[in-house]
Amino acid sequence: MRTVDMIQKKRDGGELTRQEISALIQGYTQGTIPDYQMSAWAMAVYFQGMTARETADLTLEMAASGEQMDLSSIRGVKVDKHSTGGVGDTVTLVLAPLTAAAGVPVAKMSGRGLGHTGGTIDKLEAIPGFTVELTRDAFIRQVNEHGVAVISQSGNVTPADKKLYGLRDVTATVNSIPLIASSIMSKKIASGADAIVLDVKTGSGAFMKTLEDSVRLAEAMVSIGTEVGRRTVAVITDMEEPLGTAVGNALEVRLAVETLQGRGPKDLEELCLELGSHMLVLGGAADTASTAKEKLKEAIASGAALRKFKEFVAAQGGDPAVGDNPELLPTASRQREVPAAADGYVGHITAEEIGVAAMELGAGRETKESVIDLSVGIRLLKKVGDPVRRGEPLAVLYAKSTEDNAKLDSIQERVRLAYRIQSEAAEPRKLIHAVITKDGVTYR
Ligand code: URA
Repeated sequence: MRTVDMIQKKRDGGELTRQEISALIQGYTQGTIPDYQMSAWAMAVYFQGMTARETADLTLEMAASGEQMDLSSIRGVKVDKHSTGGVGDTVTLVLAPLTAAAGVPVAKMSGRGLGHTGGTIDKLEAIPGFTVELTRDAFIRQVNEHGVAVISQSGNVTPADKKLYGLRDVTATVNSIPLIASSIMSKKIASGADAIVLDVKTGSGAFMKTLEDSVRLAEAMVSIGTEVGRRTVAVITDMEEPLGTAVGNALEVRLAVETLQGRGPKDLEELCLELGSHMLVLGGAADTASTAKEKLKEAIASGAALRKFKEFVAAQGGDPAVGDNPELLPTASRQREVPAAADGYVGHITAEEIGVAAMELGAGRETKESVIDLSVGIRLLKKVGDPVRRGEPLAVLYAKSTEDNAKLDSIQERVRLAYRIQSEAAEPRKLIHAVITKDGVTYR
């Protein structure tokens, strides 16, 4: 079938066959199908959607477009975790050593941050000496010896997705559920996961702003996982206010260490226990989510999770002493408080604004080429529900010593405005909204 006929078929609401999807993706990756035809097809998908079968075929085709990790020489069920991206989302830094300490091997490829959300690889690079580049053999050896390794996504994983995502970005076709779902799942499948736990964020700081859309995206990804034989569970979690109390690379590593020491913020710990419990069940290390949570709590209380963190850091060339002494992490020399403008209670914190403010301080990338500063960021001293007095600090900005005063003033104002102070105490927000498995949605 000619490309134009496949575009027309999708435009008119038809279902493409596996062969047609193969021809499209291979042709586009190899350059025989031009951007203008692929854009037209993406727009047709945007309006017409795709069936579960088409979405699974597209996912497998994109996964097969580049290098695929074979993790079969790692003992045990390899369970991957993916977050759709949030502000202050330092979960992987806690969860990787925590689930490894509880008996599930973690062989993870992660990305760098872009825009108002951070990336695990940047955070790990805040640890002095830590390398995110390992050969495939060293990666596998490390997981077999230490139970955990986290590396930067290699250049040639899912080139079809890379090219198509770039095109969607400039043709207003990013926001299509089957295209997002296949993009995310193709990378997880190419990374060799046997089972997948998805943290689908919902709220103002998330990609998906409403619970309804987040559930639809989660269902699409669970359906792909099921169609391609990877057990997949999705958890819809709140991203209305930032997660935890730190936004910025070294600051988030410090918070992850505190969480592994058992003194992290309640929301970050709750989320790690929830996602970790599904990982343990899928990985065969626990029979039920509640026994899994007990096992994870015990790993924190006994110090096993923190010991595993230090072992993991040392295995990748980093200084394990950061596990006992986070002062060894890079620290921004200039700090500025953000005072509350009124007495009352914190009613809301716009996560996206905090993420943008951290990016402006230099913690995140405005474009792929931006150079980041690992030491800068924001510490949130107040979260939703907390009482505040006028003049009391809501947050602290960590800035580079050379930061321009006018710019710092404007970032301070942005953070102040991100906080809504109200006279009545707000109900604490629910963190876990729903869990989606192949059997359906359970709302919490
Ligand atoms: N993240 C991805 O990896 N792909 C998308 O399409 C959207 C978000």
